[in-house]
Amino acid sequence: MQLDDIRRVLIIGSGTMGQQIGFHCAAGGYDVVYYDISQELLDNAVKRAKRLADRYVKANRLTPEAADEALKRIHTTKDPEEAGREADFISESIPEDPELKGRVFAQFNDICPEHTIFTTNTSSLKPSMFADATGRPEKFAAFHFHDVRITNVVDIMPHPGTSQETVLLIEAFAERIGLLPIMLKKENYGYVFNAMLMELFRAAQSLAAKGVASVEDIDRAWMGVMHTPMGPFGIMDSIGLDTVWKITDYWANKLQDKNALANAEFMKQYVDSGHLGAKTGQGFYRYPDPAYANPGFLEKKSKK
Ligand SMILES: NC(=O)c1ccc[n+]([C@@H]2O[C@H](COP(=O)([O-])OP(=O)(O)OC[C@H]3O[C@@H](n4cnc5c(N)ncnc54)[C@H](O)[C@@H]3O)[C@@H](O)[C@H]2O)c1
Repeated sequence: MQLDDIRRVLIIGSGTMGQQIGFHCAAGGYDVVYYDISQELLDNAVKRAKRLADRYVKANRLTPEAADEALKRIHTTKDPEEAGREADFISESIPEDPELKGRVFAQFNDICPEHTIFTTNTSSLKPSMFADATGRPEKFAAFHFHDVRITNVVDIMPHPGTSQETVLLIEAFAERIGLLPIMLKKENYGYVFNAMLMELFRAAQSLAAKGVASVEDIDRAWMGVMHTPMGPFGIMDSIGLDTVWKITDYWANKLQDKNALANAEFMKQYVDSGHLGAKTGQGFYRYPDPAYANPGFLEKKSKK
């Protein structure tokens, strides 16, 4: 299997991430099939892909003509046979459940040609948890996207049974569609960027939970030194405090880590009061005009 043999990309699960990944592949010249469990979800994915196409045009990432061509390359089906029989490359974005992912891959293992490469976009699982269930562990690895609207960084993470040929093929595929692949040499929870981000969150939450400094001053410290548009609490607001709390709480309990348990308690207060971040208009900051985005946030706030 060579890079040029990849013509059709199958997106399993056309939700938040699947529709983005599919559009990005279509923009890179590939035929794309969205597969999901209902036609309504598929129609919705196509609508969202159209909005994404507009964003690519506005950002000068595509001409209007190229965006139209990309949309024409996207097809949808809820029939697994139709979805899988001519697929050369799969990107899976279904819910974060290793059993479900394993079951769906096993189903496609029976349908897809032998050469088809299987990839998962999982955020928090290791591919080895369901590699055997795919029926083709050597042709399977994690190929993890962030938000394609803001970054071209992707993680490529093999499990111990992934063949080197598969890793190189996914890397070449990523580069062909303009992505910046970060190559993991072994499995790691959180890949590379998320692993670093979680450590930043952990430190920031601890500083606030222990009352060492205010949320605003913790963000100011990060933004002021690193010259970034937001600090750790601003980033947590943009992700959603429910999501951040869930991850913090899961690891705190799994590792029985006292500091992390206190951090989870600190986050839970916000979740319990319905302050989930930018999506609810209130998190650590108020939206749509969070204080950290105002000019002057980094000037000394004096007598507050
Ligand atoms: N949301 C993010 O920011 C993000 C970022 C990177 C990775 N991920 C990962 O991507 C995956 C999907 O996340 P999401 O946020 O896109 O979820 P989502 O809930 O928006 O979409 C999941 C889709 O999968 C479909 N689905 C469920 N069961 C299915 C089945 N048996 N067959 C086919 N489709 C099925 C659902 O109908 C839905 O459309 C998860 O593994 C998640 O960890 C998410």
